[in-house]
Amino acid sequence: MYVHQLHEKYGPIVRISPDQADICDTSAVKEIHKTNSRFAKTVFYRKLSLGNVSTTFSTTDRHFHTHRRRLLASPISDSSLARLEPLIANRVRMAVNKITMDLTAHGVTDVFKWWLFMATDIIGELTFGDSFRMLEIGKKTQYSLDMERLISLQPYRMKYPFLVKIARYVPLPAIKDTAKAEDRLQIYAMQSVDRYRKLISQNPSNPKQTLFTKLFDEKSGMSYSDIIQEARGYIVAGSDTTAVTLTYLTYSVCRDSRVREKLVAELATIPEPVTDKSLRDLPYLNQIIDETLRLYTAVPFGLPRLVPPEGANFNGYHVPGGTTVSTQAYSLHRDHAIFPDPDNFNPERWENPTKEMKDASLPFGGGSRICLGIHLARMELRLATALFFLALPNARPSTKEVGPTNLPNDLPGSSVIGSSVPGSSVPGSNVVEYYNKKPQSSQELAGTKEPSPPQELAGRGENMVHELPSQTTYR
Ligand code: HEM
Repeated sequence: MYVHQLHEKYGPIVRISPDQADICDTSAVKEIHKTNSRFAKTVFYRKLSLGNVSTTFSTTDRHFHTHRRRLLASPISDSSLARLEPLIANRVRMAVNKITMDLTAHGVTDVFKWWLFMATDIIGELTFGDSFRMLEIGKKTQYSLDMERLISLQPYRMKYPFLVKIARYVPLPAIKDTAKAEDRLQIYAMQSVDRYRKLISQNPSNPKQTLFTKLFDEKSGMSYSDIIQEARGYIVAGSDTTAVTLTYLTYSVCRDSRVREKLVAELATIPEPVTDKSLRDLPYLNQIIDETLRLYTAVPFGLPRLVPPEGANFNGYHVPGGTTVSTQAYSLHRDHAIFPDPDNFNPERWENPTKEMKDASLPFGGGSRICLGIHLARMELRLATALFFLALPNARPSTKEVGPTNLPNDLPGSSVIGSSVPGSSVPGSNVVEYYNKKPQSSQELAGTKEPSPPQELAGRGENMVHELPSQTTYR
């Protein structure tokens, strides 16, 4: 926000520290974030990770990155994910069931909680062959509290990595708790990797395929500790970003009846059963997703890159080698000349996007370092949006607080969605709408039986053994 204000005052290039400039300019974005770019990630990313280790996300070394990315990219590519759609869709259905049941029982629900549980369960299941069972448990466990703590700390981690690093040595309870949450995340990652190793040893010739299967092959050259670090990265990168995006999407659509009704009408045109293939062709659904990724991008801050020794020229300025340059989506996505009325949530602006709009869009980064989970994230966003608004076409935001929302921006109560079933009211909320039909039963909605009753687990859970029936259809 501060950097954005600097751009508004001083223009597209602003110096934000003695050796760092932020650039809000599409030609700079194209130059910096292209395939085989001369601008490497800075050590900032390594400082973010526990123990200063190199992973696909944090490495500054091109060869290391190419090797890791080669191992990880194909299982999470668009075509490979199609095979995993039933599994992803099952989790999405379960999340929508839980939201529906919460609304029926209480009139309000905290959608951020459910989207976070869903995204975490999905990444767990796809990566380690078994989910974290957060949706089944249905309430905050030590694991989900740790995740929330780390998510709420994320902006500080990005801005002040040094402060976060020394946090564990500072005798303040809140800071110590965060350090403990970091340590536990390491343990969760180890438990998940161990569990998957066990699965492989039970059937070495034909192990259950996951996003990580190739890493366990000796030929990958990866050590146990390398795999743990990649696992940590996936758990964090693959859950809160998607959950935050979905929360803002739900909020934005719920509060605008015009947008909501248009979406619901579009969803009514698709044949049952809903498939991701049919959702990809829905113009308005995808415009809503693009507009959410623009206005409420989950990674709004600058992505720092090192200027090569020969230096670089941007907008008539020479930037010497060794300087850090960053591009922040928050500002790029609010460029008045490219996105008129930028603070307005207006999905229709994506009906016929201009080249400038595409060039200025950076929700997933770009070039060789573009988000590895982009296809997974987009599939989750499509399925969750469609199934949510098919099940709850009249959901509205509520001002009723049901607990800390942990959203990065200041939208009080925005993750609380309120509704009421006919004849009931929601005390303490400003929700006035009614369902014109009763929410579908969970069985109807899921096309499957409800999961076994939630079982309280102390941490992320030793007994992650619940297997969902695989189905190709849902709703
Ligand atoms: C809406 C959801 C998501 C958003 C907005 C998002 C955003 C981003 C952004 C902006 C970057 C680039 C960072 C940079 O260049 O400095 C990135 C990288 C990355 N993301 Fe995501 N992400 C999302 C979901 C996911 C998921 C589901 C995964 C799960 C695997 C994931 C894994 C990664 C990894 C491994 C990288 C590093 C890629 C590399 O450097 O080669 N992300 N993400």
